[in-house]
Amino acid sequence: MKKTEIVIDKSFIVDKIDRKIYSSFIEHLGRAVYEGIYQPESPFADEQGFRKDTLELVKELKVPMVRYPGGNFVSGYNWEDGVGPKAERPKKIDLAWHVVETNQFGLNEFVDWAKKADTEVMMAVNLGTRGVAEAMNVLEYCNIKEGSYYSDLRVKHGYKEPHNIKTWCLGNEMDGPWQIGHKTATEYGRLASETGRVMKSLDPDIKLVACGSSALGMPTFASWEAEVLDHCYHEVDYLSLHQYYNNHADNSPNFLASSVGMDEFISSVVSICDFVKAKKRSKKKIMLSFDEWNVWYHSNEQDSKLEKWVQAPHQLEDVYNFEDALLVGSMLITMLRHCDRVKVACLAQLVNVIAPIMTSDTGAWRQTIFYPYLHASIYGKGTVLNTIVKSPVYDTKDFGAAPYVDCVIIDNEEDEEVIIFAVNKDLEEDMEVTCDLRQYKDYKIVSHIELHHEDLKIENTEANPNNVVPTESGKSIVDNGILTAQLKHKSWNVIRLKK
Ligand code: AHR
Repeated sequence: MKKTEIVIDKSFIVDKIDRKIYSSFIEHLGRAVYEGIYQPESPFADEQGFRKDTLELVKELKVPMVRYPGGNFVSGYNWEDGVGPKAERPKKIDLAWHVVETNQFGLNEFVDWAKKADTEVMMAVNLGTRGVAEAMNVLEYCNIKEGSYYSDLRVKHGYKEPHNIKTWCLGNEMDGPWQIGHKTATEYGRLASETGRVMKSLDPDIKLVACGSSALGMPTFASWEAEVLDHCYHEVDYLSLHQYYNNHADNSPNFLASSVGMDEFISSVVSICDFVKAKKRSKKKIMLSFDEWNVWYHSNEQDSKLEKWVQAPHQLEDVYNFEDALLVGSMLITMLRHCDRVKVACLAQLVNVIAPIMTSDTGAWRQTIFYPYLHASIYGKGTVLNTIVKSPVYDTKDFGAAPYVDCVIIDNEEDEEVIIFAVNKDLEEDMEVTCDLRQYKDYKIVSHIELHHEDLKIENTEANPNNVVPTESGKSIVDNGILTAQLKHKSWNVIRLKK
């Protein structure tokens, strides 16, 4: 059996985890909003038309914050179309996804839904077709109590109290040529700076996210980040990262090593932020908002055949398999290992569209990727320890040498727990992992959850939603303070120790 040694020291910490690292994303896209979270005609709908079955699963995930309303969609969106009496709301062409948007669900409905889902709203403003004025107006509508045109309009729409939305994205993927109102770094950087300045003078308590590159592979990557930040460093708090991985080549070892690429991406963006910090002699540190991350490719072919200008089509409905869940686990570990800078991250997306939750007329179910996300969100609390992983490595086509084991150890002092998240990417062999935990005197193993299947391609479907489910079957022991854990070949593991 291969062996991996993990080394930690209680005092060598990365940082406290910001729970917003477990956030997600709902875009007006496909069946995310319509049929996903809102479907008044469904037997599962509550009095506001929100699907109760979806709400239950979202609450199970304990999602701290949800980004809305896009995505590419926001770059052509008029938020005013989605507020006020529903009968008066216009049907509009959505050029981002080539569909028709009915606007029967909008900002206020989302705020109501978020309350029921026990989550916070992260709102994006349109910096594609619109600019400073729209951003000011929507912020006034949401966060000013009353006594001005837009705040009074909100009150007139039935919302006496302000929504108090604290986290705002300044546009979406403005570097992408596909974006409605795509901009150069100079154009966007200036706009983000002016918009940010005005928004913060209206509500100084908000936090702002500037658009970084829409993927590491963009030709303008790095120079985009540097120039944008050069313009808006003073106004913004976070810089965004987006990345989706695929296994089009059907090379699973390479696919599972994508977390190595994610790790390098994060380190590069941290370096760029700190380069601008140094250049400006600034005391302020820009944090990262990895506000779109996931696996996305299963639905690409089907989506290329979609009819245009219909409402809420089955779009981006990736059906995830077991290997996708392993990579999602590795990506969560990667972001946690960088939790000193990654303060927000949004699994893209939440329901039906590249999502952990799927719905149909007969109910809602959990995709394979639901489980690592769930475990991270419910158990991943506390302080990340600098986790040295001495794992054997393997060669990959795209990511060089990749470790078989990805791992992070968290010290949850409040609940007197130590949590270990680990993925074994070895497709054939189990791995013996050891870790000296003598500093955690009297901590005992309370559970070792495993997500494992022999078939990497098996999926959770409507007909068979429980093909891939976690079990408490892992084998770990602590003997004289030394942990020895068996990580099954191809497995996601959650080992919890408690005092
Ligand atoms: O999440 C799907 C899409 O991916 C988003 O709309 C866009 O921001 C990204 O390209």
